[in-house]
Amino acid sequence: MSDLLWAGRMSEKLDDEFAVFQGSLKFDRRLVTQDIRGSIAHAEMLALEGILTGEEGQLIVDALSTIDQDIATNSSSIPEHCEDIHSAVETLLRGKVGDLAGKLHTARSRNDQVATDFRLFIKEACQEHILAISCLKKQLLAEAERHLSSHNGKPAVLPGYTHLQVAQPLHLSHWLLAYFEMLTRDESRFAAAMDRMDECPLGAAALCGTSWPINRTQTADRLGFSRPMRNSVDAVSSRDFVIDYLSACSNLMVNLSRLAEDLIIYSTSEFGFVSMPDSLSTGSSIMPQKKNPDLCELTRAKSGRLFGHLMGTLVVLKALPSSYNKDLQEDKEATFDAYDTLGPLLALWTKLVPKLKWNLDVMHAKACEGFSFATDLADELAKLGLPFRDAHRVVGQVVSYCVEHSKRLDDLGSDELSHFHPALNQGVLSKITLDLIMERRQSFGGSSTALICEAIRQARSLLADASP
Ligand code: ARG
Repeated sequence: MSDLLWAGRMSEKLDDEFAVFQGSLKFDRRLVTQDIRGSIAHAEMLALEGILTGEEGQLIVDALSTIDQDIATNSSSIPEHCEDIHSAVETLLRGKVGDLAGKLHTARSRNDQVATDFRLFIKEACQEHILAISCLKKQLLAEAERHLSSHNGKPAVLPGYTHLQVAQPLHLSHWLLAYFEMLTRDESRFAAAMDRMDECPLGAAALCGTSWPINRTQTADRLGFSRPMRNSVDAVSSRDFVIDYLSACSNLMVNLSRLAEDLIIYSTSEFGFVSMPDSLSTGSSIMPQKKNPDLCELTRAKSGRLFGHLMGTLVVLKALPSSYNKDLQEDKEATFDAYDTLGPLLALWTKLVPKLKWNLDVMHAKACEGFSFATDLADELAKLGLPFRDAHRVVGQVVSYCVEHSKRLDDLGSDELSHFHPALNQGVLSKITLDLIMERRQSFGGSSTALICEAIRQARSLLADASP
């Protein structure tokens, strides 16, 4: 008998080149475990519903379990001539139970089978990413906590930028916690995606269900899904769960690529804020002095690659006629690549964060440069009764004067200051020290030490609640 599942319909042999072109075994072989699990659940259900005899069901289930073990231990291999993983598993089953294998495909189609296998794979992938993200979050949190007192017992300070121009100084811990927050939303995007895809397509058959008295709740249950999908056409048609996954991956990559970019900039000799660990950097074959932040650069680049997978899959799905079309086979390589990229990437970031060496003195000195206290000075004037707009203008004029005369704010004497506004005196200036301005930022979500401590406490308890 031919291994082709649909050989009965054809009178010509399949063209060899076309067979290679249209087959998916080269990539969907990674769904072997999911395919076997789905098949076992289906066989058990068929037996319970009397569609297979108990003995037939048992023979099939035992054989599938053996195949699963044999493949896991490499004592059996996937038959390479098959079109896809579904026909490959059936071929292996035939090798064990003979023609009885043909009964397994009662009341199912590869259309619902592939949708089920792929949902199982992506659900597990989401779970893995959630765990990996929480490991990275733990490192960010530990660093945030450490840097509250890492600079001679005081909080480490980072010059804050907007438009990549010096803006206001902030605690390094606050910057670290910003990424913690972003990653928390990334986790929740994977969790939401998992939740939405937690419905089982199996039993939808080709597109409109089956005349066999199957029990879809039972197969859904056995495969760990919350319920069967309600509509059989939707069950075989939809790949929005793939889009959910790839867009959660893409959002995560946006955030990681921004963290990467911050570190690339901060590690340049021009900034000199941070040194990358040697173990996670590369050198140059010609310039002996080079230490390159390749992990960050590759994160930046791989984000583009993952957005490409999202966009490519959207385009494959766009305007497809309803129910199954072979186009849907094209959803897998992109997803597998996204999964293969994210796993190692998250693990490496989890190693990198605690190994970053922050040059706290340089950061502290830089944080005080570039008139980074100007906003706080305007605030102080406004607290004396000036409308903020006026205070902003006055301080703007002071800064402009300083720039013109190559002076710093604290070089200015009382006479020079009062020239800009009578309220502007040494008393006001004395309130504008780095320590004082940092601790005044007590608005909700702000960066005073007290608020950061509270944010760390809350983050710790959230992480503890989330731990399995
Ligand atoms: N290899 C196919 C895929 O990945 C499996 C489903 C094939 N179904 C079909 N009717 N040809 O989508």
